[in-house]
Amino acid sequence: MTIEQHITKLAKSAVQALYNAEVDEAQVVLQKTRPEFEGNITLVVFSFAKQARKAPQVIASEIGEWFMANGNGLISKYNAVQGFLNLCISDSFWVEQLEQIDQDADYGRQADRNQLMMVEYSSPNTNKPLHLGHVRNNLLGYSIAQIQEANGWKVVKTNIVNDRGIHICKSMLAWLKYGNGETPESSGKKGDHLIGDYYVRFDKEYKKQISELMSQGKDEESAKKEAPLILEAQEMLRKWEANDPEIRALWAKMNEWVYAGFDETYRRMGVSFDKIYYESNTYLEGKSEVEKGLANGQFYRREDGSVWADLTKDGLDEKLLLRSDGTSVYMTQDIGTAKLRFQDYPIDKMVYVVGNEQEYHFKVLSILLDRLGFPFGKELVHFSYGMVELPNGKMKSREGTVVDADDLMDKMVEDAKEISKDKVNTLQGVTEEEANEIARKVGMGALKYFILKVDPRKNMLFNPEESIDFNGNTGPFIQYTFARIQSVLRKAESSPASSVSIKQLEEKELTLIQRLCEYPVVVRTAGDNFSPAVICNYAYDLACEFNSFYHDLSILNEKDEQKRALRLLLAKNVAKVLRSAMGLLGIEMPERM
Ligand code: ARG
Repeated sequence: MTIEQHITKLAKSAVQALYNAEVDEAQVVLQKTRPEFEGNITLVVFSFAKQARKAPQVIASEIGEWFMANGNGLISKYNAVQGFLNLCISDSFWVEQLEQIDQDADYGRQADRNQLMMVEYSSPNTNKPLHLGHVRNNLLGYSIAQIQEANGWKVVKTNIVNDRGIHICKSMLAWLKYGNGETPESSGKKGDHLIGDYYVRFDKEYKKQISELMSQGKDEESAKKEAPLILEAQEMLRKWEANDPEIRALWAKMNEWVYAGFDETYRRMGVSFDKIYYESNTYLEGKSEVEKGLANGQFYRREDGSVWADLTKDGLDEKLLLRSDGTSVYMTQDIGTAKLRFQDYPIDKMVYVVGNEQEYHFKVLSILLDRLGFPFGKELVHFSYGMVELPNGKMKSREGTVVDADDLMDKMVEDAKEISKDKVNTLQGVTEEEANEIARKVGMGALKYFILKVDPRKNMLFNPEESIDFNGNTGPFIQYTFARIQSVLRKAESSPASSVSIKQLEEKELTLIQRLCEYPVVVRTAGDNFSPAVICNYAYDLACEFNSFYHDLSILNEKDEQKRALRLLLAKNVAKVLRSAMGLLGIEMPERM
């Protein structure tokens, strides 16, 4: 029970005993005690005046007296100021709370709510490798899934891979023309990078053709439409749609290369999916949903044969769903994907982690899914996030592409290795393999924390150096605090006693216990607001408070046995909560650093 629950229960009993009256929970008003008064928590008694028929000041005093006599030592002191009963919670209550936290292996997790949330994230196209934008996406998506799971949701992490369309034909065509049969094996390149290089190559050759046509007197627009390469790519797409066996085989082969590459990137990033959908399997489903909607009169057909949804009643415009030649658009695919997902899972809540440039798309999708009868359509969550960039000059991105996710992770781990070289003294006796593992956790922790602590809606600059600083509001700072606690616990030899006998707490001990008690509320708030940043802030505050406690009070050298035991128990549980909180962000904790 939280302190609020304890006092609410006591207050109901007091009113019953003193005034022979019932009050319900909503009437029990609690607030944090104002700083000018002594106390931790304040019971506001004005709402009992009707039952008690006394002046608020009198009620507050009488209840205060009753609490002292009947509160089982929960309240150590009180003072009544008009209708405000300021209560000092006894230290033994807090010590008990700490003991309970220690016993709870799942501390912070909420009860199962028997509802299913599907979280879609990542959702790449198969023509190029993952980039910095995907990094933010993947980290947010994975963390949101962890946080909602801790809040009692059954979470299904999903991904929609946009594996068909003109973009992938461009890479395929360039590979056929200029590739000389290059494979990931023959070149030693990761498959997604290999394909990405041919996508860039397509663009280069296409641009050449455009300028050549323009030098022959064509205007830009016609040059772009008539360049032989784009015509060939379009022809390839037609063949793909017509199930041409050669094109399909090439497509399957090249996509396999890409998936092997993506898998490796996901694994390094520490993210995973329960179910992956592929556009090539869902887009036809989307077409048939749209045709059903057309038959139902939900959509309409124009003279040229194209199919549209009229959203003007919803304050939006008209939305194309099938082109005049019958081919599908991006939206059509999303309708089909939603249909298959709903067939596969009883979705109560659908979350799409997608950049804010697609806000309009998801507004429209929500209305369309709702019209088509998907129960989760209307309330779908577009978890929208802003751009992320590196400061100029940092990690020059390859020409024509943005900052690559694999390169970025390499750099972070290298930087972490570089930094820990200076700390080699504290890492004595650590094998090279362990040192590499620490650098991996620290480098990745730096990246993840720095990105997740920012409000997702904001555009941001990712600064590698700042992110890895051991002294700021960073992942490595929190990891370091954790490692330091592990070192204390190792030196303590025997594991901390699970029960201690302490009457009076030091202020810094009390602050830490109270902070630990907040964790379940923090997890709930992070879930309600879809906010990993709430978890980041909490972990940072907890780490800072631990360091301040550690600075002021000795643990291992404390002579008083009970005090030493309490502090060890505190340290152990701070480490436990730090590990749990960082786990919700997908960040691993090194045992030493
Ligand atoms: N592949 C798309 C892109 O790169 C993002 C897909 C987002 N998810 C969705 N259900 N539409 O822009």
